Order: sequence, then C-alpha cells, then structure tokens
Amino acid sequence: MSESAAEKIQTIETPEGTFTLRLVQDDLGDIYPGMIRYTVDVLRGTKSVYAYAINTYESARQGTLFDTRKAAEIVFTRLAHDVASRPHLYTRPRVFTRPLPGTGTADVVILQGSPRRFGNSAKIASWCDDEAARAGLTSRVFHLQEMEIRPCIGCYVCYDQGYCPVEDDMPPIIRALEAASVVVVCTPVYTGTVPAALKAAIDRCQWLHAREKVLGKEVHARGLLVAVAGRRGAEPFVCVTRVVEMFMENLGIRPAAPVLIGDLDRARDVETIGGVEDDVRAALSALLAPRDEE
Ligand SMILES: Cc1cc2nc3c(=O)[nH]c(=O)nc-3n(C[C@H](O)[C@H](O)[C@H](O)COP(=O)(O)O)c2cc1C
Repeated sequence: MSESAAEKIQTIETPEGTFTLRLVQDDLGDIYPGMIRYTVDVLRGTKSVYAYAINTYESARQGTLFDTRKAAEIVFTRLAHDVASRPHLYTRPRVFTRPLPGTGTADVVILQGSPRRFGNSAKIASWCDDEAARAGLTSRVFHLQEMEIRPCIGCYVCYDQGYCPVEDDMPPIIRALEAASVVVVCTPVYTGTVPAALKAAIDRCQWLHAREKVLGKEVHARGLLVAVAGRRGAEPFVCVTRVVEMFMENLGIRPAAPVLIGDLDRARDVETIGGVEDDVRAALSALLAPRDEE
C-alpha cells in the first residue's frame, strides 16, 4: 500500500465488512523526470486486499487520448462497483508483488554472454566459478544464450509494483543478482558491443532497478567485467566496457577494473595466452576477500 496521502477516498459498507478505496498519487521524479504513479488501494478494514498501479511512463506521450490519471480514476470507479457488488471476492488479500520464483541465490553470480558453450567466455566463467569455490563461496553461472530471455518492451510496468510482466527465464537471474555479493560479466565483443542475449538480459535488469526504487531492494555487490575480442588493442572494448559499466552503475553494483583480453582471432583459445587465467583469478579473488565496507 502506498504511504502517500490519498487524493480520493470512498468507503463502501458491505455484508463482508467496510471497504475503503484510496487513489494515491506518488511523485517518482527522483527515478525519472516527471514520472507520476497512481495507485488504487482497496482496504478491508485496515488491511490492503487489492492494489492497481499505473505510471505516466507507460503511455507514449502526454496530451494523447490516454491519460494516466483518468485511467486510474476509471479503475477506481470500476473497483468501487465491483467491491460493492461482489465483496466476497475481496475478503482475502491478493498478492501484489509476486515473489521471485526459484531458490537459486549465490555469493558470486556469473553472467556468461557468449553463445559458444565451450568458447573463451565460457572458459573464463568456469575459472571464476572455480575461484569462488576456492574462496569457500557459492557461485552460479548463467549461460544466457541457453535461456529464454526476451527483450525489454519498454512498458515501465516494473515501476508500478516491482514486477516485470514479460514471462520468461529472467526471474531467477533477478533473484540471483539481488542476493549476490559479486557479479561477474564474461563476454565476447560482438560487432563492437555485447552479444544479443547479454544485451537483452542487461536491458531486462531495468526490472531490478525498479525493484530497488519501488521496493527498496538494494544491491550492494561488487562487479567485474572480463571481455574477450578477436582484434588487438583497446579499441574493440570501448563500447562493451561502457555498456557493462552502465549496467552496473544502474543497479548500484560497484565495478572493479575490467580484464580485457584481445587478439583472440590469432590465439583462438584464451587458455593459450600465458598469464591470462592468473589475471582473471586475481581480479576476482581481490573482490572475494573479506573487506571492511567502505
Ligand atoms: C558475430 C561476431 C562479431 C564479432 N565482433 C567483433 C568485434 O567487433 N571486434 C572484435 O575484436 N572481435 C569480434 N568478434 C570476435 C570475438 O570477440 C572473438 O572471437 C571472441 O574470442 C569470441 O569469444 P567466445 O569464444 O567467448 O565466444 C566477433 C565475433 C562474432 C562471432
């Protein structure tokens, strides 16, 4: 239930008790400029039994036929009618924010972005997995290409109640990221940036940003990017490092210096480049060591 003052209140006496409907306006301008969320709460006595929410970023443009506040008011009127005519349907609370399914949390969460299951990024992910185990920590590798991860549809519904309406394999990833102490992204450079499955997962993590802002589920993890590229030098990594940095910044994950491994068109196999495995393990193990929170 929203804590803000109600803009509109209606009390309905029914054989199932007294119900109160509240229309609440929340200013979410600290998340996005001009974002307003309207919530219609239905209370039975003092207990919230149903909530509907909608925000101004869900509609394309101000001044079009779709008016967010009007939509909330229509829902308010319809709910008032429904509560009065079918109060028995509102005797028990309905779940507003569905719990994230799955139990798979881990200390170290590794997002593996390459479609090549036995390629360089997958090898690096396995080193990180092993390094976590050596430190006595739990870890989990998500091979993103093997999961069903649909692109973000930009509906902004996650800012209503902290849940994404797109149904696919994202919930366990969100759950794992929310609980992780360290997040590692292992990825090849694809056409200057990250492969499509990783980009889709990154965009869908807007949901986690919304959970942080709406539900106060803060992520306190440290982050590490390990990227591989076919070409030599720093240039292939310019975009990848920025994309992954933005992903981490958006979620409050504090990134360490990335490990960037180029020239793989020549070497082919990351294991043949001397010292690289040690560099990756050292970069991760520096994040796994117990530290006083800064
Ligand atoms: C579709 C595609 C696009 C690529 N684009 C780039 C690129 O822009 N720059 C680069 O240096 N390497 C590029 N590469 C090379 C890969 O980054 C390189 O082969 C890497 O080692 C593959 O890692 P993996 O084994 O983890 O899949 C590309 C490879 C593919 C398949």
